[in-house]
Amino acid sequence: MRNFTETTLTDAVLAKLDSAPSPRFRHVMSSVIRHLHACIREVELTEAEWFAAIQFLTAVGKKCDDKRQEFILLSDTLGVSMLVDTINHHTPTGATESTVLGPFHVPGASEIANGANVAAGFPGEPTLFSGRVVTMAGKPIAGAQLDVWQADAEGLYDVQRANLNGKQLRGIVRTNEQGKFWFWTVRPTAYPVPTDGPVGQMLLNMGRHPYRPAHIHALVTAPGYESLTTHVFAEGDQYLDSDAVFGVKDSLVVKFTRHEPGTAPDGTVMKQPYFTVSYDFGLSVVGR
Ligand SMILES: [Fe+2]
Repeated sequence: MRNFTETTLTDAVLAKLDSAPSPRFRHVMSSVIRHLHACIREVELTEAEWFAAIQFLTAVGKKCDDKRQEFILLSDTLGVSMLVDTINHHTPTGATESTVLGPFHVPGASEIANGANVAAGFPGEPTLFSGRVVTMAGKPIAGAQLDVWQADAEGLYDVQRANLNGKQLRGIVRTNEQGKFWFWTVRPTAYPVPTDGPVGQMLLNMGRHPYRPAHIHALVTAPGYESLTTHVFAEGDQYLDSDAVFGVKDSLVVKFTRHEPGTAPDGTVMKQPYFTVSYDFGLSVVGR
């Protein structure tokens, strides 16, 4: 085949997929090719713009390392992560809604005991996060695992701070026989997604702010149940309606309640003001 034109080229490329062994791969790639070609035709992309796009994607790749995931950030800020999440999770009644994983999850965080402090030594107001992991019918799930991670009061995750030893501001806690968990941390704050890379420049070019409302991440798992990737957002945050990654859902917004010094609900004697926040995570059974 030769002498392709603007109108015949797309079909010629699609025909090259005819012998792809995986039907699903063929289906996905043919859609990618059709939409990509349609986009280029629609905007009549210039050669300079195409090269700029290549340079941008190259820069995104070069910005990635074992602590920085610029491609997840790109996906998040373009709404792709939430679109995939929405398509893949139709939350049944009683189950907690999901949201983006984000670029700061680190597999293999340390196991912590209930009542432990994941933020010792980090800036921020002490906060007791407690709750339960339950079935859709509200029955407690013992031994469920909560992998939690968050930024400190300066809006930074551990992986964004140089010279930190080990994984901090994160941990894996398990529910007790009553399905309960609790741990101490600091009250999270709104923070900007990293803007020192190509995605930050893209946001600037789009005229967008980079902020996410204050939140704590949780990846909740239990044998026999669908794993849940979600956040708990702080009520009243100024960015709840303009989250840079489109991740906010009403059901995930909770109140962080301030308390004067005294004995906290877990028995800890607090000599300074502290906050409590409580949330029950509902899991759906596998294959429901
Ligand atoms: Fe986050």
